[in-house]
Amino acid sequence: MRILVTGGAGFIGSHYVRRLLAGDYPGYPDVAVTVVDKVTHTGNLANLPLDHPRLSFVKADVCDASALYDVVRGHDAVVHLAAEPPAGRTLLGSGEYVISNVLGTRAVLECCLRAGVERVVQVSTGKVYGSIGTGSWTERHALRPSSPYAASKAAGDLLALAYHRSHRLPVSVTRCSNTYGPRQFIGKIIPRFVTDLLDGRLVRLHGDGLHTREWLHVDDHCRGLQLVLDGGRPGQVYHLGGGRELTNRELAGRLVGLCGSSWEQVRFAADREGQDRRHSLDCGKAERELGYLPRIPFDDGLAEVVGWYRDNRGWWAPARETADLTGPGPARRW
Ligand SMILES: NC(=O)c1ccc[n+]([C@@H]2O[C@H](COP(=O)([O-])OP(=O)(O)OC[C@H]3O[C@@H](n4cnc5c(N)ncnc54)[C@H](O)[C@@H]3O)[C@@H](O)[C@H]2O)c1
Repeated sequence: MRILVTGGAGFIGSHYVRRLLAGDYPGYPDVAVTVVDKVTHTGNLANLPLDHPRLSFVKADVCDASALYDVVRGHDAVVHLAAEPPAGRTLLGSGEYVISNVLGTRAVLECCLRAGVERVVQVSTGKVYGSIGTGSWTERHALRPSSPYAASKAAGDLLALAYHRSHRLPVSVTRCSNTYGPRQFIGKIIPRFVTDLLDGRLVRLHGDGLHTREWLHVDDHCRGLQLVLDGGRPGQVYHLGGGRELTNRELAGRLVGLCGSSWEQVRFAADREGQDRRHSLDCGKAERELGYLPRIPFDDGLAEVVGWYRDNRGWWAPARETADLTGPGPARRW
């Protein structure tokens, strides 16, 4: 069995790759894994066991269809995670989202079709639905993305589903809630708060702090991806949620406590554009069809993550010095 993971040097992709290689998913004891990654500001080769005998790494842009096709050929399955992730400056730099998340996804789908790949998973996000006041989205809910990032992911999903309908490409789509865990790029809310609090810096809470997110541990997310790869129906969308809703203010309170800090370090700042008020995924379909349920209690997972960043300063401190924590900027606007 050969599995290609795009974006495998990133937060979720590298966790998935490490789990696969460790034999943690039943039925894949000798799996060979190829990672394709461009290694953008959020990718990190230190996330991968590069000397593992069953891991190959190819540095490439998924938008480069001819280079990608040579890599895709010979693989049984492709899990497509490569994407330009959301950032505070999304509204200024939408070009990069369209290039990687729409054109890149098209190139991945096209290569999978031409190479006759037997199973494809397009990894996406609940952000494609926009915001929901009460209740939860099912997979049949209309897409109403609020930001260019979410719109680019929605476009990638629609392309994937169209490749199934037009060409019978055996692709399933996952839409997941906000994911947290070790090795997440420090521009994201949890690592940014933790690393700032641990270093005694002020942290910014945007708006009134009452935006609500549902949190999913990266290990549950990756187990869900594997369940969809193994048993998901082609042409279907599956929600993978964490089931734990918190306002950003509640999240900040927990992190202040876990980092041994005080509210003195928290400052309220102006709200950002394109922020949804609330996300909530109904995961009943994945539970009924695949037996998916998140396992890691949020408070346990969060404590583990704070401990990881406390113990692994060498992983994140260099990135803090050099990385643009806000993502693509105005130079990419056009
Ligand atoms: N993190 C979350 O909360 C979350 C939630 C739901 C869905 N997702 C989805 O999961 C996937 C992975 O997210 P993540 O949080 O691990 O992001 P990440 O930014 O940590 O990883 C993305 C990886 O993709 C690579 N990449 C970006 N553009 C590329 C390109 N054009 N060609 C090749 N490689 C490229 C980057 O170098 C990076 O290693 C994304 O598709 C994202 O939309 C993430």
